Amino acid sequence: MSTDSLEGLCTLVTGGAQGIGFATAAECARRGSAIAVLDMNPQAAERAAGALAERFGVATCWAAADVAYAASVQAAVRACNEQIGRVDVLVNCAGIMTPRLAVVAEMPMDDVQKMFDVHVRGAFLCSQAVIPDMASRGFGRIINISSVLGVLGLPFRSGYAIAKHAINGFTKSLAVEVARQGITVNAVAPGYILTETLQQRLDHGMLDYALYADRAPAGRWGLPEEVGHAIAFLALPASGFITGTIIPVDGGYTMRGDPGEAIGAASGVEALRAVRERFAEPAGGTR
Ligand SMILES: NC(=O)c1ccc[n+]([C@@H]2O[C@H](COP(=O)([O-])OP(=O)(O)OC[C@H]3O[C@@H](n4cnc5c(N)ncnc54)[C@H](O)[C@@H]3O)[C@@H](O)[C@H]2O)c1
Repeated sequence: MSTDSLEGLCTLVTGGAQGIGFATAAECARRGSAIAVLDMNPQAAERAAGALAERFGVATCWAAADVAYAASVQAAVRACNEQIGRVDVLVNCAGIMTPRLAVVAEMPMDDVQKMFDVHVRGAFLCSQAVIPDMASRGFGRIINISSVLGVLGLPFRSGYAIAKHAINGFTKSLAVEVARQGITVNAVAPGYILTETLQQRLDHGMLDYALYADRAPAGRWGLPEEVGHAIAFLALPASGFITGTIIPVDGGYTMRGDPGEAIGAASGVEALRAVRERFAEPAGGTR
């Protein structure tokens, strides 16, 4: 079998109903994996699972759950196991944005706790729910979603940064712990990714495309498909010697030394069209 294939595997994607999670589920399905979409939005999860089954002809299922609640996660993982057989690949993608930008002195602790609960507690509980079965089969892939704020600081978003720094620590510790059971644990750390949610914020003038495009050496934002591509690569059986890494998918955002040094103009949002075409399916089939 091709080393690029996920055929015979079952992938569970939390937050898989939209955005980076959906793009990841699509890329894993394109490579032949069965897909379980777990999301707190049941209608969107059902729609996503249906769309993937139709587009890629793989087995899919969906479950509604809030990843911050243990009982909810356990029930959803049980339901997915019953429907698609097992979970070989877990992608912890459920996430939320900072609800209110605020300085620490004024940030409600509840907002910080909420960030921690969805991102860290969520990834922890979902991992707990699948590791014993992965270990018993001697194979597993866990991929967490970090962020450029997993290694950088930015004002007014300390709750998010706390959660993403914690994801990096969790990724490394768990990677060491389960390595000898055939399970790899990695994270991808996206930069600014043009999801539907962020597109809406750009449309309403709540975000500045040029500001973040210029900071990234690539001179643009990324697409959800580009993050999904990196995650699917980590999910491959052939990627078994990669563990405990935090892979930036950020157009060089976090490695840029001095953003003041001129390196030429960034591109406008229209440049993403050419990137999007790279991921377009040829008529009548998968790429
Ligand atoms: N978009 C970006 O630029 C960007 C950059 C860096 C990191 N990330 C991270 O990528 C991940 C996905 O982000 P996105 O931009 O695709 O978001 P999105 O808002 O487009 O999608 C998030 C999905 O997660 C689901 N979800 C939210 N809370 C949940 C919960 N408690 N339980 C179950 N499902 C829940 C939502 O219903 C939604 O379907 C997040 O962890 C986010 O922090 C995104």
